[in-house]
Amino acid sequence: MIVVTVITPAAITYASSKLMSKRAILALKLALHLLCLTPFGVLLYRFQHDNLGADPVNTITHFTGDWALYILLTSLAITPLRRLNSSIAFLVRFRRLIGLYAFFYVSLHLATYVFLFSGYDLFTALTSLKAGHPAVLIDQWKQVWPTIWDDLRKRRFIQVGFCSWLILLALACTSPAVIMRAMGGKNWQRLHRLVYVAAIAAVIHFWWLVKAGVRTPWKDTAVLTVLLLARIIYTGLKSRKKLLPAPTQVKLASQ
Ligand code: HEM
Repeated sequence: MIVVTVITPAAITYASSKLMSKRAILALKLALHLLCLTPFGVLLYRFQHDNLGADPVNTITHFTGDWALYILLTSLAITPLRRLNSSIAFLVRFRRLIGLYAFFYVSLHLATYVFLFSGYDLFTALTSLKAGHPAVLIDQWKQVWPTIWDDLRKRRFIQVGFCSWLILLALACTSPAVIMRAMGGKNWQRLHRLVYVAAIAAVIHFWWLVKAGVRTPWKDTAVLTVLLLARIIYTGLKSRKKLLPAPTQVKLASQ
C-alpha cells in the first residue's frame, strides 16, 4: 500500500523550526537576552550618570512603559511573521522569551509607579532597612497606599493599565511547559490569546493618560491594528479552510 502525504504549511513550519541546530538556537537566545536587556542597561547607565532629566521618576515611568509596550507588540508580531514566510518559522521558539521580557518591563513600570511615582520614600525605607528597622518599609507603604487606592478607584488609565498587567501576570505564571501540559494545550491556548486583550488595554492606557489633542500613541495603535487585522484575516481563512474537505492523506493503491 502506498500512502502519499501532502505537505501542509504547518508541517513546513514545524520542520524548519526543528531543523535549526541547538547551537544556533542557543546563540540566538543569548543575542535576544542581550537585546531585550539593553533598554534596562541604558536606564541603569543613565541613572548612574545622573542623566535622567529634570524629573527622573517621570523619565523612568515613561521609559519602562514605552519599552513594555514595544516588546509586547514585538511578541505579538511573531505569529503573523512566521505565517508569512515558513523560512522564519523558527521565530516561534522565541515568542515566550520576548513575552516574558514584556512582563519584566511592565513590572518595572508598575514598581516605579508604586515605589517612586506614588511618593513612597524608597531611599528612607532602604536606609532604615539597612539600619535594622524593617518596620519603616510598612510605614511608608501605609503612607502611600491611600493615594494608590484613590488612583485605582478614580483614574481610568490606571485601571485599564492594571488590568493589562494582571493579564500579563497570568500569562507569565502559566508560561512554563509543565503548566502548559497540566492545563492542556487547548485551555492554555485559549488563556494565552488574552495577550491581545492585554495589548489593547495597554494602548487604551496610553491614550487615556496623554493630554487631549496629543497624538503620541498613534504609532503603537497603528502597529497593534495591523497585528489584530492579521489575526482576524488568518482566523477567517482558517475557518473557511475547515469547511473544505482536507486533503491530508491520499491512499493511492493497495496491492
Ligand atoms: C500596572 C498598572 C500600570 C500602572 C499603575 C501604570 C502607570 C503609569 C503612569 C503613572 C504613567 C505616567 C502617566 C503620566 O505621565 O501622567 C504611565 C505611562 C505609560 N504606561 Fe503605564 N501603567 C500601568 C500599566 C501599563 C502597561 C501594562 C503598559 C504597557 C504594556 C503601560 C505602558 C505605558 C506607556 C506606553 C506610558 C506612556 C509612556 C510615554 O508617555 O512615553 N503601562 N503608566
